[in-house]
Amino acid sequence: MKILVVYATHSGCTEDVARRIGTALRQGGAEVKVIPVESAPAPAGFDAVIVGSGVRAGKWHGPAIRWIEKHAAAVRAIPHAMFTVCLMMRDGQKKAPEVLAFTQPVFDRLDLKPVGVGLFPGWFVPEKFPLFERIILKMMKTPRGDFRDFDAVDSWVSVVAPRLGLAISMDDVPENQADPVAEGDSSLQVEM
Ligand SMILES: Cc1cc2nc3c(=O)[nH]c(=O)nc-3n(C[C@H](O)[C@H](O)[C@H](O)COP(=O)(O)O)c2cc1C
Repeated sequence: MKILVVYATHSGCTEDVARRIGTALRQGGAEVKVIPVESAPAPAGFDAVIVGSGVRAGKWHGPAIRWIEKHAAAVRAIPHAMFTVCLMMRDGQKKAPEVLAFTQPVFDRLDLKPVGVGLFPGWFVPEKFPLFERIILKMMKTPRGDFRDFDAVDSWVSVVAPRLGLAISMDDVPENQADPVAEGDSSLQVEM
């Protein structure tokens, strides 16, 4: 099975998450390409696609939005999942509904029905950001730190991979790290 993982990042944070998703999918037996959105091909020829982005001011990065707009028909035609990496997820799932709302209108507009939407904490590691972004985050008194949770990423992949068509053992998935979408908004689910 061939899976395309497309990501958009400014600081490199979301790239690491995308690569971890790729590694987990490969361990499950998939042939995976993890590609930055700027050079990502159309999803034609892939059996499934995962698209993810970091967030600025409540929105995915522009290139990620434009990529799914451009390739919406091809994405729609195969199982697809999405993920968002941002600081509002640093305190667990409390802000999951707000973070889902960053992207849901876009998915609705494009008639995309992801089999899962992963919401992952990112980082504020000042030296990774350009000066103007660093100033904004400091003005907002954003706590510094690397809040990424790669175990949560692995757990999400374990839940989402079978929905994408890849058989992965579910034995290792802790119940409390299940895909928030699976427990919340049923409109995002595809009946299997
Ligand atoms: C200017 C700016 C605005 C941001 N806005 C948000 C936001 O609205 N919500 C949020 O949860 N995180 C926000 N973040 C945090 C980033 O999403 C987070 O640092 C993420 O790890 C960045 O990943 P990336 O560089 O791969 O996109 C913002 C960061 C910056 C620099």
